[in-house]
Amino acid sequence: MMKCKKCGIKASVNMRHHKMALCKEHYLEWIPEQTERFIKKYEMFKREEKILVAVSGGKDSLSLWDILIRLGYQADGVYLGLGIDGGVEYSHESQKLTEQFAQQRNLKLHIVDVEKEYGQSIPMLAEKTHRGYGKPCSVCGLAKRHEMNRIARDLGYDVLATGHNLDDEAAVLFGNTLSWEGTYLQRQSPVLAESNGLARKVKPLCRFYERDMAAYAMLSGIEYIYEECPFSVGSTSIYYKEMLNQLENQRPGAKLTFYLRFLEAKNSGLFAQPIAVEFATHLCQKCGQPTSAPDLCSFCRMIEKVSLEN
Ligand code: AMP
Ligand code: FES
Ligand code: ZN
Ligand code: ZN
Repeated sequence: MMKCKKCGIKASVNMRHHKMALCKEHYLEWIPEQTERFIKKYEMFKREEKILVAVSGGKDSLSLWDILIRLGYQADGVYLGLGIDGGVEYSHESQKLTEQFAQQRNLKLHIVDVEKEYGQSIPMLAEKTHRGYGKPCSVCGLAKRHEMNRIARDLGYDVLATGHNLDDEAAVLFGNTLSWEGTYLQRQSPVLAESNGLARKVKPLCRFYERDMAAYAMLSGIEYIYEECPFSVGSTSIYYKEMLNQLENQRPGAKLTFYLRFLEAKNSGLFAQPIAVEFATHLCQKCGQPTSAPDLCSFCRMIEKVSLEN
């Protein structure tokens, strides 16, 4: 039986990636404590700032809202009605759960319906613009970014918070790394500063595994929509998430390391504007090829060493 690291009773959640198990009570304390640590570490926002949480009705964004309120931050919510109602009435159901969450806790929720606002739902926009090869996801992403930013600005919020978790961030990172998208890599961050009329954006859950957020939502009794957006089936990001999960199964912690080491590399300037680096300042005295060593290049040095030993 797995025991809670803090009190020794039977554990409810086992986190192999942290080599740590916790009981329900300590888990529900640990997640907000860690979130607070990340908020401070990445300088996301201060206590006196007004936060707008983008809530989709899923486990991550509802948990994020719950955590920020528990931590005593001033956080209101915004729900975007996208008009996505496949077989599961996705938008309708997710809006209902978000409204219920806000009502039960007496929180302020803004609801923006894209179709009412612009006369077109997301699937309608996608069909008319022929963007995204028959899938509305790229139009949807564009609309979400645009609307979230507009509302944060119009209503005077200091910062916009989304529920992106580690699995989301690692999948995006993986995709951008496969094609070395320098600009995107440079921009991927737990916090994006405000610039040219774009609100500051933060992702306080970016270091939590998706399954840990599911455990948090479940243990704290949050009712959320289980279904993913019906259009996400077969998407590249889901494929990357599955690949990373395979890696994680073999090497617990790999996903977190992948993401954290990326942030470190970025901090040390890996994706910054190219700087002049002096790689080779000498020519090898034997072969004449460029080398950083003053006499022989490493190959020639190796050959020399081997022939001396013979
Ligand atoms: P997704 O792009 O669906 O993975 O969602 C990432 C984050 O965007 C969520 O955690 C939410 O914070 C936000 N979000 C997604 N859909 C909505 C929505 N319909 N309304 C408000 N926020 C949303
Ligand atoms: Fe936007 Fe699926 S297409 S959430
Ligand atoms: Zn405990
Ligand atoms: Zn616009």
